[in-house]
Order: sequence, then structure tokens, then C-alpha cells
Amino acid sequence: MRSDANIAGPMTDPVPGPRTELSGEDVSRETPPPMDDTPIGRAAQLAVEALGRAGEGLPRPEQTRVMVVANQKGGVGKTTTTVNLAASLALHGGRVLVVDLDPQGNASTALGIDHHAEVPSIYDVLVDSKPLSDVVQPVPDVEGLFCAPATIDLAGAEIELVSLVARESRLERAIEAYEQPLDYILIDCPPSLGLLTVNALVAGAEVLIPIQCEYYALEGLGQLLRNVDLVRGHLNPKLHVSTILLTMYDGRTRLASQVADEVRSHFGGEVLRTSIPRSVRISEAPSYGQTVLTYDPGSSGALSYLEAAREIALRGVNVNYDAQHAHALPEFSQHDQHSSMQEGIQ
Ligand SMILES: Nc1ncnc2c1ncn2[C@@H]1O[C@H](COP(=O)(O)OP(=O)(O)OP(=O)(O)O)[C@@H](O)[C@H]1O
Ligand SMILES: [Mg+2]
Repeated sequence: MRSDANIAGPMTDPVPGPRTELSGEDVSRETPPPMDDTPIGRAAQLAVEALGRAGEGLPRPEQTRVMVVANQKGGVGKTTTTVNLAASLALHGGRVLVVDLDPQGNASTALGIDHHAEVPSIYDVLVDSKPLSDVVQPVPDVEGLFCAPATIDLAGAEIELVSLVARESRLERAIEAYEQPLDYILIDCPPSLGLLTVNALVAGAEVLIPIQCEYYALEGLGQLLRNVDLVRGHLNPKLHVSTILLTMYDGRTRLASQVADEVRSHFGGEVLRTSIPRSVRISEAPSYGQTVLTYDPGSSGALSYLEAAREIALRGVNVNYDAQHAHALPEFSQHDQHSSMQEGIQ
């Protein structure tokens, strides 16, 4: 496993695949589409900007960054964040592998990767020591993006792993033996702290915790952080929480900003300045086997994941990300239900 900055240059067509450039930014389907200086017109403009932005390219890490996307709380946006950040990093010019470590296989589905029971999968890697290269598939429509899919077999792996040699470090070994050059590996964890998540924590150096901006957001996080400490102490000294991402941020609610404040006062520097707004487009994309980046590149969801990816890439090379220099994000009117987006970027 190595990073090779010369492998993937800036892409000529950064967002291949179907585009819905004129689909309004999460605008209700019932709303008749207005013209020109309207949310829809602005969304079209933003789509174009987003494409230009993606083509810019970003500094690439010297070594492959292995990021574990974990939170044992269910439904906080782990999978959504994994696939959309991975696609954003790939569109920014990186080579990115998504490892689907959840038996639900949601990341595989969202990336349009076949993962029925017979498909070679991460289960074969973990339990039968199959090389990772035998299961990795290219993601359709996004150059530089790859996926190691999960099948339903993985549901039994937690138990099967117990009796295997080096049960906690099987993923780490598989990744170390993987020869392909990569800039990022993003591991989508299941909502639990079992052996699958432990394998991810042993394999990675960075933990990325998505936190949903809602009541009880921080509940259970202590347990995750204790697990990170335990793994760091016994199995993986380089492990640390590098990134916290606020998801499903709804700026119309006071609760969301209260949660955001609390998370920022708790974690400080690890929290990305970019937060991800609640967005219908983000939740629709997986049912088309797509990320929001290809499904609706001009939507607030796509733009915020692109921006979050930019922030992560800059942090990785120690460039200070300053919100002042952040790409302008869309301005929505007071009456626009998507004002959350603007408020979400703090
Ligand atoms: N920013 C967002 N706006 C709107 N919906 C979202 C957003 N992020 C995630 N969702 C939706 O919330 C639900 C949960 O998201 P997701 O599957 O990513 O969470 P998860 O943490 O991976 O869940 P699990 O713990 O089951 O693996 C999904 O239906 C997803 O489409
Ligand atoms: Mg998930």
C-alpha cells in the first residue's frame, strides 16, 4: 500500500455520469420551477461552479490516509459521509478506496456496487484471508474511486473472527498487503463496537466521527472514545480522532446550533468548520446507486461534502483551513428553507 502522487492527475471530466444540473437545491417537488435569479437558477450556477471546483485538484497526502468512519450510534450519517466524502476526494483528483465493513452493505449499495451473496467481499478478506485486490471493484461513474463491498456473510464474521489468529488485525494486514497506490482509504463501520469496528480501528490511523445535530448527539460517544483509547494503548499507537463532522445540520432549529456549539466546545480543533446540511438530495441518491456528487452536483449536500473533503485534504498537509478562504457556498434567502446550508458552514 503506498500513495503515489503521480498516478491520478487532475481529471478532465470531474463529475461523469448522470447530471441533474437544473434540479433545484432540495426544492420541494410541488414548487413550480421559477426562472433565472431563483433557487433553481442559482443551483444550476452552483453545479457549474462545483464542477470547476472539483477539477481544481487538492494536495495529496504523502502516505495513504486510512480513515475509520465510526460512531456506534445508528443512523448518524456514517455511510452517507463515507461514500460522499470518498467521491468528493476522488473528484478532487485523489485515488480513494471505500471499505464497506457493515453487513448491511449500505456503502456498497450507495456506490452502485453489486454485493449479492456470491460476490467476493470483505468477508472473504477478513475470514478467509483473500487478498484485498481480489474483492476491490471500481465504482462506476467516478474515476479514482474503488470499493471493497460487504455482503450479508459479514453478519457472521463477528463470531467467526473470534477463533481466528490475529483476529483484531486482519483488515490491517490485508491493507498493508494491498499494492495499489491510494491516497485515502475510508472504512465504513457498523453501528457497534464489535470485532469489525475493532479491525477498522487497528487498520487506520485516523478516526472520523460523524455527529448528527440532534438531541442526545453526544450520548454514547464516551464509549467510542474509550475504545479508541484502548486500541491506541494496546494495538495501534498511531490511532487518534482526527475529524468530527456535523451532519444533518438544520439551521432552522435552535437545537442544531446548540448541538454544534456543544460539540465544538467539547472537541475544538477536530471539528470541521464545514457541516453537512439536512438535504433531500443526499437521502435520495443511494436509491439510484449514486453519491450525491453525481446525482445532483449543484445541491447543497454535494457542495458541502466537496468542501468538507477540501478541508480534510488541507488539514492532511497541515495547511490551515480558514473559513474566510472557504469556497463561497450558496446564499439562500430568509424564506428559503435551505438557509440551513449557509448557517451550517461556520
Ligand atoms: N445530510 C443528510 N440529509 C438528509 N438525510 C441524510 C443526511 N445524511 C444522512 N441522511 C439519511 O439518514 C439516514 C441514515 O444515514 P446513514 O445510513 O448514512 O447513517 P449510518 O450512521 O451509516 O447508519 P447505520 O448506523 O445504520 O449504519 C439515511 O436514510 C440517509 O439517507
Ligand atoms: Mg451505515
